[in-house]
Amino acid sequence: MATVGDIVNEAREDIPLNRKKKTNRFYLCDEECMSGSRYINFAFGTLTFIITLALFIQIHYGDYQVVPHGSVATDSYECSEIGTSILKQGGNSIDAAIASAFCLSVTTPHLTGLDAEGKILLYNHKSRAPATVIDFSGPSGTSKYLPRLVLGLAYFHKEYGTMNWKSLVLPAAKLARQGYLVSKMLVQAVSRAHAEDLYGPLEAGQILQHENLGKTLEKIADTTEKELYSHLNGINQPSHSSALKETFYGYNVYVPNTSTGLLLLHNLRQIEQLNVTKEDTERPAFVFNVAKTTQTVYLEEKVSNKFHEGTFSSVSVIDTDELYVSLVTGMYNSFGAGEITVHGYVPDVKNQDKASSRLPIILTDATYICGRRLVFGANTVGQATQLIVSLVIAGKNATDVIEGPRYHMQENGTISVEASRTPAFSGELIKTLETVSPKISPAAEPYPSINIVEKHTDDLISHSDSRGGGIASRY
Ligand SMILES: *[C@@H]1O[C@H](CO)[C@@H](O)[C@H](O)[C@H]1NC(C)=O
Ligand SMILES: *[C@@H]1O[C@H](CO)[C@@H](O)[C@H](O)[C@H]1NC(C)=O
Ligand SMILES: *[C@@H]1O[C@H](CO)[C@@H](O)[C@H](O)[C@H]1NC(C)=O
Ligand SMILES: *[C@@H]1O[C@H](CO)[C@@H](O)[C@H](O)[C@H]1NC(C)=O
Repeated sequence: MATVGDIVNEAREDIPLNRKKKTNRFYLCDEECMSGSRYINFAFGTLTFIITLALFIQIHYGDYQVVPHGSVATDSYECSEIGTSILKQGGNSIDAAIASAFCLSVTTPHLTGLDAEGKILLYNHKSRAPATVIDFSGPSGTSKYLPRLVLGLAYFHKEYGTMNWKSLVLPAAKLARQGYLVSKMLVQAVSRAHAEDLYGPLEAGQILQHENLGKTLEKIADTTEKELYSHLNGINQPSHSSALKETFYGYNVYVPNTSTGLLLLHNLRQIEQLNVTKEDTERPAFVFNVAKTTQTVYLEEKVSNKFHEGTFSSVSVIDTDELYVSLVTGMYNSFGAGEITVHGYVPDVKNQDKASSRLPIILTDATYICGRRLVFGANTVGQATQLIVSLVIAGKNATDVIEGPRYHMQENGTISVEASRTPAFSGELIKTLETVSPKISPAAEPYPSINIVEKHTDDLISHSDSRGGGIASRY
């Protein structure tokens, strides 16, 4: 059970002990892999108190689940919960991701909002049809109450949604009206962006309401699908394309066919050339090699001229039908253009000169269908590389990888480290990184967070990064 001093990253509902009886659902890994599962682990808990708790204390969870349902990991407990409630009502991963993304536009205005841009990676592991990407990072603010994120989600709904639109938007509208708990990260972001004028003085744990945003979300919810879809036209319609797929250390890596996706694959290919083994990953030389390779690729590819690291928030979902969704979203700056429209949202910066570096990622074991499958997103190629290397080469579990220390490779190849984190990099590793980038600076808080949902055989594990203050939810 949770104790004060640990970290809360996942909330679960009680798991029924009779396994999959009397259901007609097709479980991908039913017979062939379940028998050998070593990860069975029961835990039961009451979750109602966790939201409040999570803001102040840290509780650690990380066990596998026996009966597969679905899971959603985001930067906010409310949003993960809204996502799983949609899955419970029979929605698929797409429906859940839409509802959670609307929710994040309410609870994390420093990271995302109705005008935020984003990318969605969708993969069906049952049919194993080619993964697809929906990209809504076109120009900001084409319509007053249907800005970018709304149109991106509308398109996603039109193509793949199963539940009615209204039921996906209303939970966020309700949350905006009733108020949500302000996170420590939102307070940090306000102070860092000097954005005190936006919402007035804020304290972590207080309830914040967004009346106008609630009204706008209600209006969006009340827009019929027919009308909604009619707004998707040549100019503002998100792009829809096939994802790239490449093999890295026995895993299929799915990323968008964009300059960041290509850059990540290029970097991974360079790292694969190092021929390292799992044992090597414990050594400082390995940290050096990964950082040096990434830095070289950044400088060769002139990343600082091409990409801008904006804010970052992600939604990772796996449902019972093996539909995987990784949605990444964000704005050019924290709190976008730094003002609130009459519609209650913060518009993003206009005239953005560089592409965003964030990218959604899916990894699947290339040999065994029921091997590990991982759904997450990363704010930069450097971050994605560190994550993939730890998950795939070092073979660490999602919990360890997400909560582990990370450095930030900045666009110009200099490194900053997350200073106020436990665990932190050892002095030895910092020295090693200093041989890659002589002047190591502390990274700015709040740190970008990584939220992951992982499946192995039919067992699910999900983890929201304590950096983002969220809790993943599964049932
Ligand atoms: C992840 O690995 C660590 C050891 O590195 C272990 O203590 C922890 O229990 C593992 N978590 C899960 C969910 O297996
Ligand atoms: C990626 O995009 C490029 C150009 O936009 C295109 O030529 C190429 O065929 C695409 N690759 C895949 C796998 O779709
Ligand atoms: C890795 O292995 C390949 C093929 O076995 C070899 O050509 C290459 O030189 C090796 N790279 C390193 C850094 O040892
Ligand atoms: C690299 O970029 C960081 C962050 O943008 C900046 O603080 C630093 O001064 C730059 N370093 C160099 C050598 O240009």
